[in-house]
Amino acid sequence: MEAGGRSVKLFVKLGGSFITDKSAPETMHPRNVVLAAQAVRAALEEARTQGKRISLVLSHGAGSFGHIHAKRFEAVKGVHAQYGWEAFYRIRDSMARMSLLFIRSCNEGGLFPVALQPSAIAAADDGNLSRFDVRPVKSLLGFGQIPVIHGDIVPDERRGFTIASTESLLKAMAQELRFDRIIMVSDTDGVLDNDGSTIPWIDPRAISQVLSFLRGSKSPDVTGGMRKKVECLYDLVSSGKAGSARIIGGIGDLSNLKAAILGTGGGGTIVGG
Ligand SMILES: Nc1ncnc2c1ncn2[C@@H]1O[C@H](COP(=O)(O)OP(=O)(O)O)[C@@H](O)[C@H]1O
Ligand SMILES: [Mg+2]
Repeated sequence: MEAGGRSVKLFVKLGGSFITDKSAPETMHPRNVVLAAQAVRAALEEARTQGKRISLVLSHGAGSFGHIHAKRFEAVKGVHAQYGWEAFYRIRDSMARMSLLFIRSCNEGGLFPVALQPSAIAAADDGNLSRFDVRPVKSLLGFGQIPVIHGDIVPDERRGFTIASTESLLKAMAQELRFDRIIMVSDTDGVLDNDGSTIPWIDPRAISQVLSFLRGSKSPDVTGGMRKKVECLYDLVSSGKAGSARIIGGIGDLSNLKAAILGTGGGGTIVGG
């Protein structure tokens, strides 16, 4: 039910591969963020004129900000024999700067998003996310605002710290907040088959075959790349924790993102359902 009553809940991730140059440390593609923000704003305005309410959680990957440090310090494993807690400082420092660049570009694209710091509201136990405080997210959504989260370094009961991917934060959040649509923007036009063609729909019959050939990422990505992304989205949709999921490419003026937000299409790959 999209018109009238309740709002449609959306989770949109702008992939680190799409908004940064993952091969070069700390390089943002601000233009991509601005274009995406403009598409989000246009979609929200169109929905409003149609009398539909959309609640949106925006997120972004850590790209060449978080991942490069995370790889260097093996931060997934926690406190390092040689570097100790340095990873926590470096990654927080890097993600704080990325977050600022990100929300400023969103603002240039016409949004006023509110950045939340995942390391302060999430925690892990032996590498698995064990806590995510959704209250600030819910509260901001209640006021019609756009909370922003991102992959981050988080405290870990056993390891001292570990890395939480945007996908793992989404999974935790989805336990308490059901998203009707999840949209992830990638530097590829969705999930590609071995010939480089977009797979339009990963349905229950296709999932195991797709996972058998999916690799991680061609660039530094310590949290499992495309494979983990597809696994996460498939699990959420097939367990009913999310209504639908789509991975799309960051192409042109991002009118595909606008369509995906409005639920009128968007191309790329539909995952699950
Ligand atoms: N079959 C595939 N289709 C699409 N992308 C793939 C595939 N296999 C590996 N990838 C890689 O996965 C990357 C997207 O995952 P990732 O780097 O984790 O993105 P993000 O930065 O959004 O987290 C793509 O940039 C690509 O390098
Ligand atoms: Mg990733």
